[in-house]
Amino acid sequence: MDFFERQWASYRAIVEHDLMEHRAVAEATSAAIQAWLNARPAAAPPPHLLDLGCGDLALLAPLLQQLPLASYTGLDLTAAVLPLAQQALGNVPYPSHWIEGDLLAWATQEAGDDGSEPSAHAVDILHSAFAIHHLTDQDKASFLQAARRRIAPGGLFLWIDVFRQPGESREAYVARYSRRITTLWPQLTAEQQEHVISHLSSHDIPADRQAIAAAAEAAGWQWHWGWQGAHQAEALAVLTPV
Ligand SMILES: C[S@@+](CC[C@H](N)C(=O)[O-])C[C@H]1O[C@@H](n2cnc3c(N)ncnc32)[C@H](O)[C@@H]1O
Repeated sequence: MDFFERQWASYRAIVEHDLMEHRAVAEATSAAIQAWLNARPAAAPPPHLLDLGCGDLALLAPLLQQLPLASYTGLDLTAAVLPLAQQALGNVPYPSHWIEGDLLAWATQEAGDDGSEPSAHAVDILHSAFAIHHLTDQDKASFLQAARRRIAPGGLFLWIDVFRQPGESREAYVARYSRRITTLWPQLTAEQQEHVISHLSSHDIPADRQAIAAAAEAAGWQWHWGWQGAHQAEALAVLTPV
């Protein structure tokens, strides 16, 4: 197994054993999209959905297959996941597009320049699960400002991620999440636990949940929590453009 395959196998094990509550996340995501669809005028055209950091779609595909979309676009920094995502989505009655790219670069570029077709349409539903926490706090704020310009009026942004408690330092967060892995994740091998702890220690920068909600509101988003996990980390933020 190469480095990507080892890392991805550890992540797959986390999803399969529901260690980050992906099943509850999927249910909350479905409920939030359904509520948004129900609130639209009956004559509204089907929405375009863009998924930033789509991964292999192992969990989201069943929901996507049922949604009345105009298009689905999966964007990910890791090219190797895109064929897996395409295979998981399978045949759907709307066009799908696959982009190898960076989510911050997508947000900050001009609309219509992201390789998706039709290139001119705005994004009605923006979805991102467990990807934005890799950005620095400054980049997260820039992302929120830029994505606010890319979302269609009346659109929906579902941000699923890990977040820090208000005032919690990154070091304290990493220490408590690492303890959670070694004590509550016996389903992973010691080597897999080590991979996950090493990845989160070097790459994860979860936002302070209070500070990031304030930054989003300053960028022109209305913020509310759609779901909060049992471990004061995983959560779904529902953002709508003001
Ligand atoms: C933990 S996985 C989550 C995958 C999927 N969204 C899910 O919930 O199962 C994070 C994904 O985000 C991608 N990613 C990380 N940073 C990114 C960035 N700056 N731009 C685009 N994708 C990114 C990774 O390649 C990976 O596929």
